[in-house]
Amino acid sequence: MRTVVLSRAQVWRGPLILVNRDHPLRCPYPLDPVPALPSCPDVLLDRQAAGLLGACVRAAGGAEEIVPVSGWRSLEEQRRIWDGSLAGHGETFTRRYVALPGCSEHQTGLAIDLGRRAERIDFLRPDFPNRGACGAFRRLAARYGFIQRYRREKEALTGIAREPWHFRYVGPPHAQLMVRHRLALEEYASFLRWEGPCSCTLPNGRAAQVFYVPCEGEETALELPDGCCQVSGDNDGGFLVTVWGVPA
Ligand code: DAL
Ligand code: ZN
Repeated sequence: MRTVVLSRAQVWRGPLILVNRDHPLRCPYPLDPVPALPSCPDVLLDRQAAGLLGACVRAAGGAEEIVPVSGWRSLEEQRRIWDGSLAGHGETFTRRYVALPGCSEHQTGLAIDLGRRAERIDFLRPDFPNRGACGAFRRLAARYGFIQRYRREKEALTGIAREPWHFRYVGPPHAQLMVRHRLALEEYASFLRWEGPCSCTLPNGRAAQVFYVPCEGEETALELPDGCCQVSGDNDGGFLVTVWGVPA
C-alpha cells in the first residue's frame, strides 16, 4: 500500500469530472488534444479518449459512415454556439440542446458529437441512428469507455434533452458500471458513495475496482494498493478511485 495526499483543487480535475449547469468547469482538464478521428483533423479530443474512439469506430465497422462533428470546444466557442443557437432557434431550443458557456463537457475534451456521414450534417443535432455502423458503435461504446450522456429518462437530472449523438469518455470500468446500473453521470458518485466499492471485468479480461472517497478539506490522505490506479475528482465533493488488476 502507499499513501497519496490529494489537495482540494484535485476535486475539480480528472477524467470523471461532472460538468453540467450546476457544476461548471472549474479548471480546464489538462488537455492533450489530438484529432478525434484521423478523417477529421479539425475536431479535437483528449488523446486517450481519441484512441478508444478510433478503436470503437473500427470495431463497429464505421470508418466510412461515422464522422466526428464536434469535440473539444473552448469557452469562447461554446459561447459562440450558445449565442448562435439563441439567435437562430430561440431560448427553449437552446436550453434543451446547448449547455451554458462554462458548463459544457465539450470544454473538457472528453465529449464528442458523432454523425452519420451525409452531404449536410446538422451541427447541433446530427443524425446518429440506431442502425448500421452508428447502431453498432452505440452498442459497443461502453466497452471502449463511452456513455451516451443525455438520455430521455434522465432529462430532469441532466437538464439537457435526449442527444443520441453525444458521447462522453469516462473509461471502460465506469462506462460499464453506469450502463449496468442505468446511471447518469449525475448519479454515479453518489451511487458509489452509498454502494461502496464496485467491481467489473473488462473486455480484455482484467478486473477493475472503483470506489468513492470524500474530500476531507485542504488535504485528503488516501491509501492506494500498489499497481495501476487512477484518481479523478468528481467536480463536486470527492474523488473516484479506479484500481486495475483486482479480482472481479
Ligand atoms: N450539447 C451539449 C449539451 C453541449 O452543448 O455541451
Ligand atoms: Zn455534444
